[in-house]
Amino acid sequence: MGIKMHPFFFCFLLLLLVSPHSYGESEEDEFEEIKRSDFPKHFFFGASTSSYQIEGGYLEDGKGISNWDVFSHIPGKITNNDTGDVADDHYHRFLEDIELMHSMGLNAYRFSISWTRILPRGRFGKVNKGGINFYNKIIDNLLLKGIEPFVTIYHFDYPMELERRYESWMSSQMQDDFVEFAKVCFEEFGDRVKYWMTINEPEMVAILGYRMGSFPPAHCSPPFGKCSMGNSDREPLIVVHNQLLAHAKAVSLYRTHFQVKQGGSIGITISIQMYEPLDQQSDTQAVDRILAFYVGWIYDPIVYGDYPKEMREILGSELPSFSDEDKRYIKGSLDFISINHYTTKYAKDCFHSSCPDEVNRPINAFVETTPYRNGILIGDPMGIPGLYVVPRGMEKVINYIKQRYPNHSIFVTENGYSMRPSDGNKVETILNDWKRIKFHKSYLAALARAMRNGGDVRGYFIWSLMDNFEWIRGYDTRFGLFYVDHLKTLERRPKLSAHWFASFLGGYSQQLTQLSSI
Ligand code: FCB
Repeated sequence: MGIKMHPFFFCFLLLLLVSPHSYGESEEDEFEEIKRSDFPKHFFFGASTSSYQIEGGYLEDGKGISNWDVFSHIPGKITNNDTGDVADDHYHRFLEDIELMHSMGLNAYRFSISWTRILPRGRFGKVNKGGINFYNKIIDNLLLKGIEPFVTIYHFDYPMELERRYESWMSSQMQDDFVEFAKVCFEEFGDRVKYWMTINEPEMVAILGYRMGSFPPAHCSPPFGKCSMGNSDREPLIVVHNQLLAHAKAVSLYRTHFQVKQGGSIGITISIQMYEPLDQQSDTQAVDRILAFYVGWIYDPIVYGDYPKEMREILGSELPSFSDEDKRYIKGSLDFISINHYTTKYAKDCFHSSCPDEVNRPINAFVETTPYRNGILIGDPMGIPGLYVVPRGMEKVINYIKQRYPNHSIFVTENGYSMRPSDGNKVETILNDWKRIKFHKSYLAALARAMRNGGDVRGYFIWSLMDNFEWIRGYDTRFGLFYVDHLKTLERRPKLSAHWFASFLGGYSQQLTQLSSI
């Protein structure tokens, strides 16, 4: 196993390495040369995945049925009606995949635990030994290869049983289920896992599942969309509230019973889009407001014990409240900040200018976001609508976090690029992903700038190790460093970006040795 390189790719890679300015489009996009040595020696460089997106094996060894198992089987929900039944078959190929990481020289790997492998029916059934064994093998083999496991406890997939019994995150009962799940994870894996993230993107769970209705359980209401049930203005607030309390209770449990003995640390992951003012002075306030509504929504309670005042002012009593007891354990319930960052857009204030109906609402902070200024796009579009390549956003995000939440270390737990379908879907085109390399070099350069400026960043994870089930976009949207042939063989093939990442991390001479044997 390991990385073998086609000679054409090798020449291309050499070109990229020796001529850093060969494909910059504008001054701003032109990347600085970036080197491993621009980051501290003990910095973590890894790749990220999540259970449902890569594992497959959806009925194996006692696994229960998850919300995503059910949702992806509903015709018409996912592009091409793809499902995660097989996904990357990581359930059977995890050793090969760990070897891929090792061959690139990664020193960290972020993955998530499938709730239904561990507790197939939540609190209402038994712990499933098959699931425990699977993750034990992953963790042990990562450590054998010198790769630090970063574990997300819950990344979008939960037991369907909890939806059926009490509507999952709409109910405070979900907090108890989550704490039970977290407890089993700490007990079984905490002797070896030193970096825990409780929940991946609680705000996206709320926005996609309960405002837009595009993710399960597909709740929404007009003007956001037409769903069989839901209230797009209110439900996302309840769903985040329950996730925040679930997080806080799990952290409290970890701190009381596990942390001292196990010596790990714990946080929660959010997705941050950066915003720039579109035009007028009032748009600067719109930027502050929307960041408070997305970033502050999660991290203000966790760092300071309550929702941001910007949210309270606009949402009033619609915004749930924390009791004094809640506040006691939510405040300070983190050891580090974990952010996923992909893109930047412009923000326009709706108090002073007119905005469309579905935007001009309290839950949107009365802010309209747009990628256009005077008809010009903020950056090159990626394969997912709404994502644009804006490297400077990475620097701004770190500066923002540093200012709003001083004295916290930061991990960038996801950053990645997907090509547009119009870039072509031939295998050779997908493998020749120079745009992804350009993306990572420029975002890493921005990250290094933020760090030189005092940002306490400790790690950077590429989304994703390999092409995988990209939620409602199925297998058509590819974020991987490795190409996966989902239609036939499931074979993994390194893209140019995997070679680049390996060489960036210092594996270049090793690659050359391998090349000479081709
Ligand atoms: C993030 C998700 C991750 C993946 C990337 C593209 O929001 O956490 O699972 O889908 O987007």
